[in-house]
Amino acid sequence: MIIVILTEQETRMLNGEEGYATQKSMEILVALGEIYGAEKLIKVGSVQVAGVSYHNLGDAGLEFLNELAKDGRVRVLTTLNPAGMDLQNWRQLGISQDFAEKQNLVIDAFRSMGVITSCTCTPYLIGNLPRYGEHIAWSESSAVTFANSVIGAKTNREGGPSALASAFTGKTPYYGLHLKEKRLPDIHVRVNTKLKNLPDWGALGYCIGKKAENRIPYITGITEAELDELKSFCASVVTYGSKPLFYIQGITPGAELHSPPKETVTVEEIDLKEAYARINDEATDIDLVCVGCPHCSIKEIAEIASLIEDKKVSENTEFWVACARTTKQLSDQRGYTAVIEKAGGKFACDTCMAVAPLKGRFKSLATTSAKGCFYSRQNNMATKMGSIEECIEAAVTGKWN
Ligand code: F3S
Repeated sequence: MIIVILTEQETRMLNGEEGYATQKSMEILVALGEIYGAEKLIKVGSVQVAGVSYHNLGDAGLEFLNELAKDGRVRVLTTLNPAGMDLQNWRQLGISQDFAEKQNLVIDAFRSMGVITSCTCTPYLIGNLPRYGEHIAWSESSAVTFANSVIGAKTNREGGPSALASAFTGKTPYYGLHLKEKRLPDIHVRVNTKLKNLPDWGALGYCIGKKAENRIPYITGITEAELDELKSFCASVVTYGSKPLFYIQGITPGAELHSPPKETVTVEEIDLKEAYARINDEATDIDLVCVGCPHCSIKEIAEIASLIEDKKVSENTEFWVACARTTKQLSDQRGYTAVIEKAGGKFACDTCMAVAPLKGRFKSLATTSAKGCFYSRQNNMATKMGSIEECIEAAVTGKWN
């Protein structure tokens, strides 16, 4: 068995000399290090903690957090993944009083630990932005994939407790994607088709995730990519595959350090069509439209506002724009919020369709997100993936044409 070598300070933490939460955290990190063969712990620059929704945590999770909150204080910049509700406008989104009370207790526990309660899966858009090569400990799969691939930071896909353990200690075990040799691409994916819009990137993520499975893809054939497209691709490729790291030649950092691996697969137009066929269900009536998985950037909100201006959301449909609260504040300033709300749209800050308690409330969803479709099916919703234009059309007509 590998023994994790600890520094003097880490040993003090493990012995309980720096408090209960720190001791428990060090126990978690050492156990993980032993399981995965880490010889030491390393410093992390920031943490992103998932497992925030009371819907997933339940009372046992809340109790666990309260126990740690007694003396646990974060040592590095730490932000949260989406919670189970909009922390301010939960009533407007149909959340019950009971749920809201419990969710607020969860947030209170994190706040008392010193966590920044910006509940978002796009922390890199609002101030938790690591640098290239920096070691971090993040949890949410799309954010982890974005950090590793688009920014070039280094993180494993942490669970909620292990991320929190890194927050309390400032450390993570040195294994997996923290190691240079574990970040080598091992399958070449040549994309032989043009990507026309945002959902095409979700469909591409589906194709590459399925073809690469647990291997790191080195992707060629793509000549341009917007940040929002990469954000969407990150969410999809890790949902339908499993490795939270990819390289795109000429686009993402670090790709220039590698050559395409020998084993090559291709993605053709027919593969994208097949992906759409797999992601979409039979559904014509749409009762929920949600854009913002991963959470919307201000640029996406501007586009939504310009497309929905002078339109009206159907009374049979809800139209949600999911984003970080900080992003909504920018939207407020620019007047986009007023335009979207005048059309009947609602902002869903701090939360998302996967972690909010939506089961049984909606029958069919339209979204731009392949990942959103995956998780909404688990909430028993039929799903349709399309462009922002198609989603707004569905919101206005209540139909998917
Ligand atoms: Fe983010 Fe929720 Fe989608 S965490 S990536 S909005 S499923």
